[in-house]
Amino acid sequence: TTVAELGDRLEAARATGHTVGLVPTMGALHDGHRSLVERAAAECDLVAVTVFVNPLQFGNPDDLDHYPRTLDADSAVVAGAGGHLLFAPALTEMYPDFPTPVRTSVAVAGVSEGWEGASRPGHFDGVSTVVSKLFAMAGRCRAYFGEKDFQQLAVVRTVARDLSFPVEIVGCSTVRDEDGLALSSRNVRLAPGERRAALVLHRALRVGAAAVRAGQLSVPAIEAQMASLVAEEPLVDLDYAVLVDAGDLTRATSTGTDRPQQLLIAAQVGPVRLIDNLDPRQAVLPPQFRVTKGTN
Ligand code: PAF
Repeated sequence: TTVAELGDRLEAARATGHTVGLVPTMGALHDGHRSLVERAAAECDLVAVTVFVNPLQFGNPDDLDHYPRTLDADSAVVAGAGGHLLFAPALTEMYPDFPTPVRTSVAVAGVSEGWEGASRPGHFDGVSTVVSKLFAMAGRCRAYFGEKDFQQLAVVRTVARDLSFPVEIVGCSTVRDEDGLALSSRNVRLAPGERRAALVLHRALRVGAAAVRAGQLSVPAIEAQMASLVAEEPLVDLDYAVLVDAGDLTRATSTGTDRPQQLLIAAQVGPVRLIDNLDPRQAVLPPQFRVTKGTN
């Protein structure tokens, strides 16, 4: 629970030649987190999982209040997945002056400004600040983040590089339920009908991917196809469905490029905001989404 103990334990591991894996989380661990811990355990000698619900990254007080807190269950997930150390600091351990606003914060220009950054002002400053603190506390390590939060991963990579943290960022594949819904700690707040409706996000991504793979060059046409599918779901309020450059997250101008691209989607479903994304060229599509060139 203390920063000093975390630092000492990780330093002692490195002093004896062991490598350190760090898995930053906000708890309510699900199979997506489990896969991060398992990967870290496969690649590092000592794996530290952090559980801290970071108030700086919540614009909506209701979302912060309702964020699930399940530390005992989290502890079992960490142990079961091969993690060694669970760091779950109190709020004042991380922010000693709380609720006085932090004086020093980290803001990443460019990559954090669009999409989630535009819809959730201050969110990425909160993420960048807490992640910087965790990196400073942990020291040299590999840090594991899920690709489900695609923009967050890009922001965190930028933080690590720009602030010269001795941290190698490892992006890990999104884990989905069998029906395609990306796992998220917020999914537990969806009523059954909302959860069913939320599946349209993944369907829309697959429709977008199918269009890219069918040779559709027009980005607005692809985005409109995704948006019109989502519009058929009355319980889902679309924020954005876009094709972006996977590196800097600027909107793509055409699919006719060798640069990696990514489809991003975000929507409000009942009480929760859900996000998802897909690499249109890598996506393994079920048969109904496979379109041969020129058929749409
Ligand atoms: O992805 C999350 O759970 C959080 O944004 C993170 C990276 C742990 C920072 O609070």
